[in-house]
This record gives sequence, structure tokens and C-alpha cells, in this order.
Amino acid sequence: MAAAAFRIEESRDIRTAQAIRFRVFTEEQGIAVADDLDGRDDAATHLLAWLGAEAIGTARILEAGRVGKIGRVAVLPEHRGQGFGRALVLRAVEVLAARPHIAEARLGAQVSAVPFYEALGFVPEGEVFMEAGLPHLEMVRPV
Ligand code: COA
Repeated sequence: MAAAAFRIEESRDIRTAQAIRFRVFTEEQGIAVADDLDGRDDAATHLLAWLGAEAIGTARILEAGRVGKIGRVAVLPEHRGQGFGRALVLRAVEVLAARPHIAEARLGAQVSAVPFYEALGFVPEGEVFMEAGLPHLEMVRPV
């Protein structure tokens, strides 16, 4: 059987994005639902990654002036290690690059994911901070 086609789309289907986040951040990582659902989903651009008919990953984009904030990057565990997370982050950077007023992309990386983002051109900035009970580092790259 041929492998299911992979694609990433901008989506208004916030519930599907939240369902992936629930599996990854809450069920897998133990982050409280209230920390994930911060009330900013309505103002955000959401990316969904699809393998055929299955939504397997997501990322969220918010703006603050000239800064594009990428967050909530999650790929379902059974689909990791195949480049889907990389593709999601690079698509988020592309979306920001198409917005002329945006100069840089920022994200708060879980420390365990810093090497993943470094490989995509993000550079750590500042000191480790705690968010949702996990150590994070701010990371930045020009767009
Ligand atoms: N630490 C170091 N390297 C990592 C990594 C990690 N935590 N996760 C992925 N990588 C590497 C991969 O080995 C791969 O390297 P390669 O190109 O040399 O093979 C590269 O990064 C790209 O990996 P990719 O397959 O695109 O990533 P993925 O689809 O497995 O998704 C995450 C990566 C982080 C999105 C996924 O592991 C995830 O959802 N984790 C749980 C949620 C999370 O931590 N999100 C980040 C919050 S800041």
C-alpha cells in the first residue's frame, strides 16, 4: 500500500489542534489543560499536519508587533522522527516570512527540544525559565 500523503495546512479547526495538544502536552507530558488552553487560540494561526485523513501534528502562530511567536509544536508520538516536526516549524517560519511587518520568529522551547530548534536556525537567548512546570529557553531566528 502506498504511504499516506503528508501535507500541512493553515486551519480554523482549533478543536483538532487542541486534541493533538491534549494527547502530547497533557497525556504524555503531564502539562495541565489550563496551561495549554491559555485563551489565545482564537487569535492565533493554527497549522495542522495531515497524513492522509489523520491529523498528526500541529503548531500555533501569534504576533506581538514585529515578532512572530511560534508555539504549541506537537507531533503525535507514533509519527515522530520522520521530519514532520521540522516541516511544521519551517512552515510556521514561512507563514511569518510572508508577513512584511514581521522581522523575527521567537519561541519558548522546552529545554529537551532545544537541539531540534537549533537545527532549524533558532538560537537560544537568556536564561532557563520554568513554564507549565518544565524548563524552557527563549529562542529566536530572523525571518
Ligand atoms: N532533541 C534532539 N533532537 C530532536 C528532538 C529532541 N527532542 N526531537 C527531534 N529531534 C531531531 C530529530 O532527530 C531530527 O534530526 P535528524 O534530521 O538529524 O534526523 C530532527 O530533530 C527533526 O525531527 P523531526 O522528525 O522533524 O521531529 P518530530 O516530528 O519527531 O517532532 C517534536 C519533534 C519536538 C515536535 C516532537 O518530538 C514532539 O511533539 N515532542 C513533544 C512535544 C514537544 O516537546 N514540543 C516542543 C515544545 S517546545
